[in-house]
Amino acid sequence: MERIQSAIAKGRAARQQGTSLTVPLSQPPATQDTGVTAAWSALPAAVIDQRHFETARIVAHRPGNAANAYDMMRTNLMRHLRDQNWTRVAVTSPGGSCGKTTTCVNLAFSLARQQDLRVMVLEMDLRRPAMMRTLGMEGGARMAAVLAGTEPPERGLVRFGANLAFGVSAAPVDNPAELLSSTQAAQIVDAIEERYKPDVMLFDMPPLLVIDDTMAFLDQIDCALMVAASEKTTIAEIDRAGKELADHTTVLGVVLNKCRYVEEGDGYGYDGY
Ligand SMILES: Nc1ncnc2c1ncn2[C@@H]1O[C@H](COP(=O)(O)OP(=O)(O)OP(=O)(O)O)[C@@H](O)[C@H]1O
Ligand SMILES: [Mg+2]
Repeated sequence: MERIQSAIAKGRAARQQGTSLTVPLSQPPATQDTGVTAAWSALPAAVIDQRHFETARIVAHRPGNAANAYDMMRTNLMRHLRDQNWTRVAVTSPGGSCGKTTTCVNLAFSLARQQDLRVMVLEMDLRRPAMMRTLGMEGGARMAAVLAGTEPPERGLVRFGANLAFGVSAAPVDNPAELLSSTQAAQIVDAIEERYKPDVMLFDMPPLLVIDDTMAFLDQIDCALMVAASEKTTIAEIDRAGKELADHTTVLGVVLNKCRYVEEGDGYGYDGY
């Protein structure tokens, strides 16, 4: 992977009002209060299916060469979040299939290897929810219904270990843009943050230039990462999406995904990040 280092300079005012677990995620962060720990413990627990993870290109749940790029992304991200006292990060892309969900999941697992962090990923691509498939999960999780206020958070959230949770949906909804722009969804995200007190919330968003669901939600987040697909996303698309994003939030950087050629010594193979 190669990261384009130039972040778009724009200040943002404070946010408007099957197999055994192989990652060391079993201990809750010591600094959190017991109510928060109890709330996390009450979430349904999932386990890592290592074989599925390999197929789905999820590599950052354990340290090693394959996880290095995500670990670097994690370090840079945490520096920005701590500097600004931010928690909410949107992950989006100009077009579809650039690797947003794959990036979100890997970044989340990389972050969660730091056991003093609580990490939450909320799937906001309510038209084409894919996080469950990516994680190899089955079941009737209903993050969209949670956002609509018809289900409690634990019906949409699934926990890996003690400090990583995913808010996922098993099925699409008919009115994603309306749902994402609703005051109720904003309040529910606030309530989830209040109850679970994640240090980082990643939002897996739809593609920016294809549908307007992402724009409808950007007021709720602190900053954004843009994922671009090598040999697919054009510079013009990155530029256009970057400008649209920068009108609403701070763009921390662009993740160039699906690179076929990587520098020697990077430790990443063909098709690596
Ligand atoms: N670095 C990579 N190299 C090769 N294939 C990749 C890479 N990253 C992701 N993929 C594959 O590309 C496809 C799309 O990935 P993913 O679902 O993460 O993209 P997305 O941007 O979330 O898509 P969508 O716009 O549909 O939400 C998946 O099949 C995924 O396994
Ligand atoms: Mg996706």
